[in-house]
Amino acid sequence: MRVIVTEDYAGMSRKAAELIAAQILLNPQSVLGLATGSTPIGLYQCLVEKYRAGELDFSRIRSVNLDEYLGLSPEDDQSYRYFMNENLFRHININLANTYVPDGIAKDPVAECARYDELICRLGGIDMQLLGIGNNGHIGFNEPANTFALSTHCVALTESTIQANARFFADSEQVPQQALTMGIGQIMRARRVIVIASGSEKREALRKAFWGPVTPEVPASILQMHPDVTLVMDRQAAPEAACV
Ligand code: GLP
Repeated sequence: MRVIVTEDYAGMSRKAAELIAAQILLNPQSVLGLATGSTPIGLYQCLVEKYRAGELDFSRIRSVNLDEYLGLSPEDDQSYRYFMNENLFRHININLANTYVPDGIAKDPVAECARYDELICRLGGIDMQLLGIGNNGHIGFNEPANTFALSTHCVALTESTIQANARFFADSEQVPQQALTMGIGQIMRARRVIVIASGSEKREALRKAFWGPVTPEVPASILQMHPDVTLVMDRQAAPEAACV
């Protein structure tokens, strides 16, 4: 695992954007696995700036997002599809038809999960997967559990995730309680993984995930077994073990 510690959130965003930009330059048809949450917003802004400066071309890029809330339509401003359109897609020259997010209002969510896995296979797998990390060590919406769920699946969000995500909603009652998420198998099959984290509230999750035992109780810990992970975090998020 490569570890990059930056001075602050802006530095983390720039570094991670450089890694994604390098991937796009090396393979302009890359399949990018993308993430939502507050952490990647600065990184997406950096990518938009690079696009506007003529440094990046997204016209042949394909993207697959990690997850979506169950019950939220793409038009809902709390949906992850809406987030991606607003924070990245509508500012760059990506073909929207080549951007994929699980369908939160699919009539049959189980069938939607199977369809999403097939889609990722059809695209040839993920070249570079971007991940944030939840306070409880989740990746995507793979919550702490007794086993690692490998394929795309429906998940009941834990109380701590609902509380953490309540800041984006008028109140915690409105946070959906279920989601569709890419599984650990798809994430682990990605050829490269970039994990980003900012702020002291992520420090303990990072310590457990990357300097603790591999366990489904800390879903991100499985990444210790991945051959090509780069962890980009700011100084506030960095566990002591990362600073030696
Ligand atoms: C959400 C998303 C994750 C994200 C995590 C952290 O629950 N499903 O993909 O990494 O929260 O979010 P934030 O970056 O806002 O801390």
